[in-house]
Parts: sequence; structure tokens; C-alpha cells
Amino acid sequence: MTNILITGSKGQLGSEINELSVKYNQFQFFFTDIEELDICSLNAIKDYIKNKNISYIINCAAYTNVDQAEENKELAKIINADAVKNLATVASQNNITLIHISTDYVFSGDNSTPYAEDQKAKPMGVYGNTKFEGEEYVRNICQQHIIIRTSWLYSPFGKNFLKTMLRLGKEKASLDVVGDQVGTPTYAYDLASTILHIMQIISENSLFNNFGTYHYSNEGVCSWYDFATEIQNTSKNRCKINCIESKDFQCLAKRPHYSVLNKSKIKHIFTLEIPHWRSRIKHCIKRITE
Ligand SMILES: NC(=O)c1ccc[n+]([C@@H]2O[C@H](COP(=O)([O-])OP(=O)(O)OC[C@H]3O[C@@H](n4cnc5c(N)ncnc54)[C@H](OP(=O)(O)O)[C@@H]3O)[C@@H](O)[C@H]2O)c1
Repeated sequence: MTNILITGSKGQLGSEINELSVKYNQFQFFFTDIEELDICSLNAIKDYIKNKNISYIINCAAYTNVDQAEENKELAKIINADAVKNLATVASQNNITLIHISTDYVFSGDNSTPYAEDQKAKPMGVYGNTKFEGEEYVRNICQQHIIIRTSWLYSPFGKNFLKTMLRLGKEKASLDVVGDQVGTPTYAYDLASTILHIMQIISENSLFNNFGTYHYSNEGVCSWYDFATEIQNTSKNRCKINCIESKDFQCLAKRPHYSVLNKSKIKHIFTLEIPHWRSRIKHCIKRITE
């Protein structure tokens, strides 16, 4: 049996891994969130893994509120960077493979073609900065690591753009949504399946040596306006979506205008076929409404 520790398991991604875990009998999962294991404490992590013979840690824990991070710099750094250093340290000392999740917001958005893994990070705000710091700890401390940068996560769990649009779409006659920020939505269910698939490949191949940084989102490119319009069309809400510019939308954090991720590497190394973003919205809405 291969033992796997999941941190932050009550969030969007952790919840999807939890749902999918029943299909993976060869793995024994230890699902934890902050109540069971606060990753900010190095000693708590060391104590938790004692006698559990953990082979993988999947870190789904993070400080993910991009706007609030601008005001809670210290806490964002503690969770997104310092706590990740703790996990990397424990993983490295115990021959554990660390699968860590990061973000498209490590990039500035100056590109006009999809970002490859080796392109220079230049975060625009506290969230992206602290997530990049966390990545660097993983790369420098724990050789056996997989970092997956993803973008615009949504799921039936927690708070996300799709759920907000579904709710507001019922309450309001019209909504203003930004049309000049372009990226790709990622269904957390698809990312969770990919992580489990990657773990299976690594655990079946003792010579695996393609550790490193990867990009994953659904296929395709869209703006938040396109995403919102598709959500309204799929859910058959009558709410009208108005396309506005970022300069007319008040928020605390600056966001990249372009954050599309190039997924060639993950598709090639792990032989993946990735669904298009448009095709996944229906699946998620069905789970929410049923
Ligand atoms: N959401 C997005 O759009 C997005 C986009 C790109 C990348 N990502 C990355 O994808 C990963 C998963 O994101 P997500 O949306 O699933 O996140 P999420 O829903 O915010 O879940 C994060 C979980 O971590 C928990 N947590 C916070 N501090 C913790 C601590 N000290 N110890 C243990 N658990 C702690 C949170 O608990 P509380 O809720 O109680 O704080 C929450 O249950 C993150 O690394 C995130 O940066 C997300």
C-alpha cells in the first residue's frame, strides 16, 4: 500500500481528490485540513507523518484570496511560502515525493503566447509573490517534487467564480464582467484526476526522473466575460452579462491581462488528453444542481 498525505483537503482541489480517491485502491489516503494538520507548524508535520510511512504529500493548502492577500501580506507569506518550506523540508528528510500546486499569477501577463514552465516569473501582487516563494522552496529543498501551476480553478466546493456567477445570475438582471483579462478556467475535478494519474505513473516506475515544474489548465483560451457568458448560457439564467474593462472594476490586487499556460510538457510526459474548458462547465453545474 502506498500512503499519501493530503493537506488542505477541505478546499476545492482537496475535496475533488477526496471524491476521486475511492477509485484508487492501491493508495491509502490521509486527508487533513488545518484542524488535523496545520502546515505552518514544522513539528506538527513531523509528528503527523511519524509511523505512517508516507510516500507522497499532495499540498492543496494555500491562502487563495488574491485581494485579501494584499492586506494580509504576513499571513499569505506564512501559508504560501513558509509552510511550504516546512513541507519541502519534511518531504526531503523522509524520501517523500512532494506534489505542490501553484498558480498562473506568478506571471506578469506581458506575454501574448502561452507561458511555458521555464519563463521568468514576475508576480504582480502578494498572492503571486508568496506562491512563487513557496515554489522556490520546493525546488531548492526537495529534489523529488512535482509543482503544478494551474489557473482559474472552479468546482462544486468552496468559493469560486462559477458558483458566484450561478448565484448572482439568479439574483440580478445584469452583471458587469471583465473582458480584458484572458486565461483558462480549470475544473478542479480534471486537475485532481491528473494529479492522481501522475502519482500512479510515478509509483509504478521506480526509475521516474521527470520531477520538476508543470503547467495544467483545461484547453482553450477565454476572458472572464466569456467564462461568465458560458456559465449563464449553460445554466439557462436570463441575466445579461456586460463586458467591461479591468480599469472599471474595483479590486485590491492587480491581475495579469494574459495568463494562458502552455501545457505541452505535462501532456507529453504524462500522456494526457485535456478537455476543453467549455465542455466541463456543464459537468460541474450538473453536480451543483443535482
Ligand atoms: N482557486 C483558484 O482559482 C486557484 C488558481 C490557481 C492556483 N490555485 C492553487 O491551487 C491550490 C488549491 O486551490 P483551492 O482553490 O483548492 O484552494 P482553497 O479552496 O482555498 O483550499 C485551501 C484549503 O487549505 C486550507 N488551509 C489554509 N491554511 C492552512 C494551513 N495552515 N494548514 C492546512 N490547511 C490550510 C484552507 O482552509 P480555510 O478555508 O479554513 O482557510 C482550505 O481548506 C492552491 O495551491 C492554490 O494556490 C488556485
